[in-house]
Amino acid sequence: MPPPPTPIMRVARYCLTVVTAAVLASPLHAQSEMPGMGMSGGWRMVPMDPNMIMLPGLTGVVPVVGAFLPAAGINPANFPEAEPSQVVEMIDGDTLDIEVSIVRRILNGHEMVMFGYNRQYPGPLIRAPKDATLVVRVRNEIELPTTIHWHGVRLDNEFDGVPGVTQEAIQRGESFVYEVHVPDAGMFWYHPHAREDVQQDLGLFGNLLVTSPNPSYYGPAHREEILVLDDILMDEQGVLPWGESAPTHALMGRFGNVMMVNGETNHQLSAKQGEVVRFFLTNVANSRTFNVTFGGAQVKLIASDVGRFEREAWVESVVIAPAERYVVDVRFEEPGTTLIANSIQAINHFRGEFYPHVDTLSIVTVSTETAAPGISDSFYSLRVHDEIAAELEPYRPHFNREPDYELEATVRVQDLPTPIVLAMEADTLFFPPMEWNDAMPVMNWLSTGDQVTWILKDRDTGAENNDIDWNFKVGDLVKIRIFNSPDSFHPMNHPIHIHGQRFLVTSMDGAENQNLSWKDTAIVPVGSSMDLLVEMSNPGEWMLHCHIAEHLHAGMMFSFTVQEQ
Ligand code: C2O
Ligand code: CU
Repeated sequence: MPPPPTPIMRVARYCLTVVTAAVLASPLHAQSEMPGMGMSGGWRMVPMDPNMIMLPGLTGVVPVVGAFLPAAGINPANFPEAEPSQVVEMIDGDTLDIEVSIVRRILNGHEMVMFGYNRQYPGPLIRAPKDATLVVRVRNEIELPTTIHWHGVRLDNEFDGVPGVTQEAIQRGESFVYEVHVPDAGMFWYHPHAREDVQQDLGLFGNLLVTSPNPSYYGPAHREEILVLDDILMDEQGVLPWGESAPTHALMGRFGNVMMVNGETNHQLSAKQGEVVRFFLTNVANSRTFNVTFGGAQVKLIASDVGRFEREAWVESVVIAPAERYVVDVRFEEPGTTLIANSIQAINHFRGEFYPHVDTLSIVTVSTETAAPGISDSFYSLRVHDEIAAELEPYRPHFNREPDYELEATVRVQDLPTPIVLAMEADTLFFPPMEWNDAMPVMNWLSTGDQVTWILKDRDTGAENNDIDWNFKVGDLVKIRIFNSPDSFHPMNHPIHIHGQRFLVTSMDGAENQNLSWKDTAIVPVGSSMDLLVEMSNPGEWMLHCHIAEHLHAGMMFSFTVQEQ
């Protein structure tokens, strides 16, 4: 659930006046207010919610990096039209060819040039049985070097898709063959590990559903639906350009203003009365954490990234950070329309005010026809998986021990436009534990990866990001505490992802987690401390990073080594 609204900070407006006065005196203001001055370098002003205040002094200012749009200057008619995702059933040893190429799409009424895996949005949905090894031959036909990372899959290190760590990036016209071994059942996903802020945003993502040999791995449901949640930043002319040599939006990540499910802006479903639908949720947005609600329907939480929860549980909503997955069973009781929505407490940083905000993600039309067979008995009982509790037994002695490593998340900035620095230093901005929306779109847009460095700092050694040097052995159980410092230039929540291993979130702010599931990504709100117990089961050199694409490309990453026993 979103954090409760916080009382309005009364000082905010007064202090904004002070900032305004300071900014008016700055030379930047005079220059940018010159009549007739347009945007330079292919940039357009980012769209803003009318609730937001335009920070004076930033009119006409553009990011310090060049603007990037794919296949710029080429008539979109030259590219094939993208198609909806198709299911690819694979078994052990099967081969799939994936071409990464430029596609044409109409999105929100605009003709767009985007990227696609096999020209599909999302990329092909791969279904494969647990323990299979799949061969995926990837050919790159886009202008940017790319790779595929198999998010959450404990596969062989050489196929992890991290350029400069496990492979060289695949240049245009080149290929790479991945062998994807899938030892865990659950919903996974694949995406590039090169300029994700651009490539993923432009459509490069797909799901990999690994099925369990256990027929009652999940409880009964009438059917399954995939919901890939995303957003994209557009204005009346179409999509806003990305930063060419470094990401824009490095402070808060690039929030979109158009919501998408499975790559569509008008996702719809129909259901029968009493139908139980199993939803597989994946968040592929650059930065947005969704709080997904299902109208009045009852929602049962079943599983997350790398497996099921110890106990099924009723939830009012599903908070899903970038790269996380959740599996929920939802029963549509009432005929009529049920909205699947992102229901948040938006914030205005300057006014220190929260206001409720709802974006529809999908419209479910429930008919009066009754779903058969009736499975309400099984739906209304919550399963308890004793076998998971038993499997976790050997890990429990580690739940309350002191951490082996402590990481602190913080940020450093250099050479940002003066009005932004003044606004931040005025100390009147309120930073919530979770940023559910981009409450300062212009400042965020103008802060590039060249000016912002997001930091993971080892508290023992003081080493930061790539200077961190951790070495483990297969079989090690490593306790990592991640503290998200609220005392920085601009604190922000961070979805932390670890490659190639699985972990348990054992506690948050000292409170023990009462219902565990194996995870590969977990979000740490501002001011919080999150304890992870990481099982080092897979040898190789693996990344640990923030999954906000712009934070990753603003430095917030390092790799660690796990040696064979
Ligand atoms: Cu899904 Cu290193 O990322
Ligand atoms: Cu981050």
